[in-house]
Amino acid sequence: MDNLVDQDTQSQSENTTEARDQNEATRKVFIKTYGCQMNVYDSDRMNDALSNDGYVKTETPDDADLVILNTCHIREKAAEKVYSELGRIRKLKEERAKDGKQMMVSVAGCVAQAEGAEISRRAPIVDLVVGPQSYHRLPELLTRASNGSKVVETEFDIQDKFKHLATPSKEAVRKRGVTAFVTVQEGCDKFCTFCVVPYTRGAEVSRKVEQIVMETERLAAAGVREVTLLGQNVNAWHGEGPDGREWGLGELLFRLAKIDGIERLRYTTSHPRDMEDSLIAAHRDLDILMPYLHLPVQSGSDAILKAMNRKHTRDDYFRLIDRIREARDDIALSGDFIVGFPGETDQDHKDTLDLIKRVTYGSAFSFKYSPRPGTPGATLEDQIDEQVKSERLAELQVLLSTQQKDFNASLIGKTIDVLFEKEGRREGQLAGRSPWLQPVHVNAPLDLYGEIGSVEIVAASANSLEGRLV
Ligand code: SAH
Ligand code: SF4
Ligand code: F3S
Repeated sequence: MDNLVDQDTQSQSENTTEARDQNEATRKVFIKTYGCQMNVYDSDRMNDALSNDGYVKTETPDDADLVILNTCHIREKAAEKVYSELGRIRKLKEERAKDGKQMMVSVAGCVAQAEGAEISRRAPIVDLVVGPQSYHRLPELLTRASNGSKVVETEFDIQDKFKHLATPSKEAVRKRGVTAFVTVQEGCDKFCTFCVVPYTRGAEVSRKVEQIVMETERLAAAGVREVTLLGQNVNAWHGEGPDGREWGLGELLFRLAKIDGIERLRYTTSHPRDMEDSLIAAHRDLDILMPYLHLPVQSGSDAILKAMNRKHTRDDYFRLIDRIREARDDIALSGDFIVGFPGETDQDHKDTLDLIKRVTYGSAFSFKYSPRPGTPGATLEDQIDEQVKSERLAELQVLLSTQQKDFNASLIGKTIDVLFEKEGRREGQLAGRSPWLQPVHVNAPLDLYGEIGSVEIVAASANSLEGRLV
């Protein structure tokens, strides 16, 4: 996608003396993003804030004046990656110091929030630790850190952040492509016993309708065609609509669908307890709401669901899926599963396999339970052996990948809409997404970039589709 848009941005910045002088003065920032889509959104917002402060984005840490790791704390492996990356960055920082150049290093995101000052104790090259609710203040925090003092900023004031997000230029939006994320909700009050999110992202907060509409209008005006609304519990979003009534996510989607230029809407991640009628109605009545729903259930066993504090049963989930499919029969479901939660028996595991068979998923993510410090699950006694977790995960993944392959194959011979998002792998190809989020590769002219085309699917693999223009 960058290749396509870079062409016109380059011709606009001719290599004049003025531009060269500016380049020498500009500082370069490299941001590495881990974790969920919300971190992808946040990294873009950090880039926006820093570009107002004279930074330009670079794709490698080698020549960066500022390196930011936007981190994830969800599983142990995710958090540990940060420290090994900091080891590599330390060497680069030392190299640069030999040349008399500075490299500021910042850890942002959920590890920053969870570990705070501990990070710069363990990795002294870190100059700034900034939590997910404070990154709009990056320029000011960097100034404070630039004289060598360690800065740690992990305050929670989400509304304040959303009020102060920097507005990206039209050109910056264009560079990012025709699909975009918009955070509408952040944080979580549900406290599932395995999960760090309520601690790293704080309490559930919904953004205001006007803010969301304005941001989406701006994206549409810059050429964005598909918007995915984000939230850790996106379907818990609620707010006062312009009509003075309390809106839920369903009403918000209807409002956003009216914005000129927006042709596709999606949202993620949802909790089964917050699937309100108005949201299910949106799936029935709103064509541009894509027929794809990520609705994690985590486990198919009532005992484990209870121990996880999910506050619904497997039957509640089945009933919900029936209602959703009644509203929109071509909807593809996606989910998250955790195997090996403390106390999980063979029978509990079988119940999860059985649930998967009954629901049938178009795609899904599955993980071995990772005990996280500070969560109730970590202190439970009957932790499951790693070997058992691995076996259960493998079994689950075989089933899920068979379902995914079958779903992809079921589209062969059908004609579907594809939004072309970037150049394809091969010469003359464009790559896009189906309504069900599968990547689709098609021989198509470049000028279809950003358009929705009718495509007949001719082949399917485990992870993508191939088609031809109709
Ligand atoms: N808000 C979403 C999930 C956010 S975290 C929801 O309620 O479903 C994304 C996924 O990571 C979760 O759905 C869960 O499957 C997984 N996950 C979270 N904590 C985990 C842990 N401690 N070990 C393994 N997987 C975990
Ligand atoms: Fe985590 Fe549960 Fe909240 Fe999802 S609902 S973010 S899994 S605590
Ligand atoms: Fe990870 Fe934080 Fe997202 S812990 S999954 S980056 S909310």
